Amino acid sequence: MAVIENSKLTIVGAGSVGASAAYAALIRGSARHVALYDIATEKAEAEVLDLAHGTQFTGASDIIGGSDLSVVEGSHVVVVTAGAKQKPGQSRIELAGTNASILERMMPQLLEVAPHAVYVIVTNPCDVLTVLAQESTGLPPERIFASGTVLDTSRLRWKLAERAGVGTGSVHAYIVGEHGDTEFPLWSKATIGTVPILDWESGGTPRMTTAELDQIALDVRGAAEKVIQGKGATNYAIGLSTARIVEAVLRDERAVLPVSTVLSDFHGVDGVALSVPSVVSAAGAVPIRETSFAPRELELLHASADALRRVADSLRS
Ligand code: 2OP
Repeated sequence: MAVIENSKLTIVGAGSVGASAAYAALIRGSARHVALYDIATEKAEAEVLDLAHGTQFTGASDIIGGSDLSVVEGSHVVVVTAGAKQKPGQSRIELAGTNASILERMMPQLLEVAPHAVYVIVTNPCDVLTVLAQESTGLPPERIFASGTVLDTSRLRWKLAERAGVGTGSVHAYIVGEHGDTEFPLWSKATIGTVPILDWESGGTPRMTTAELDQIALDVRGAAEKVIQGKGATNYAIGLSTARIVEAVLRDERAVLPVSTVLSDFHGVDGVALSVPSVVSAAGAVPIRETSFAPRELELLHASADALRRVADSLRS
């Protein structure tokens, strides 16, 4: 897809997630200019060099970077991936204290050099960090949001596509709520093409059962841990999910993506950031109020909000 002239993306954090997001953005042509910023000078410069060496093959994008904040200047989108990552068996929430203080220190510096950018928080726990960053920076909620369950939704669509024998692009299903243990699928709205998920049996595949769907939801929730156990971290899929979100902003797509914004009076949820289907454009992310929830789904949405509020409150005190 054509690169938007002069669009600039900065990725903060040159760890495996940040470097993978930069790699994905270059290959997909998400932005004309990509910058990779990290306080670790050598690491940032080496990742930039390694990526730059391949730009002959990635089309009209260039990459710069390093540990000088000036590389962030003029960014239209700033993606924050810096921070500690989960160890095997560790929950995302356990990273909250460490990563909240990293973000608290970093956000004012970033806003100094990129005051008009849209900010996308990928660092975990991304929902909690988003509500704290939105409060501390005072940015309008649409301009600072988290990647949220875009990645979990991609995992869900991959599993459903495989089970149903269709392409992932024809699976319309969302994971919503926390990017974490209280996330859940919006089964009441899930379809393959126009067919409700439980009615699908085309192509000779037997209909799915609710027990099967429950297992798929559990597999999606445990997907990151499975990868972390095997290779120590996840990076490719979150990198690709991040590039997709960046494109929706830089191309002003008004794409519907389940990103995590600070909600106000959203089906009774207030002052918590969690993922619901949202319209993502150059202005940022706006939750879709018309989204409806089955009674059980509304309970799960509130349970997710309560769990996230408890963590955020513990960090505020
Ligand atoms: C993931 O879900 C660890 O949040 C990261 O892959």
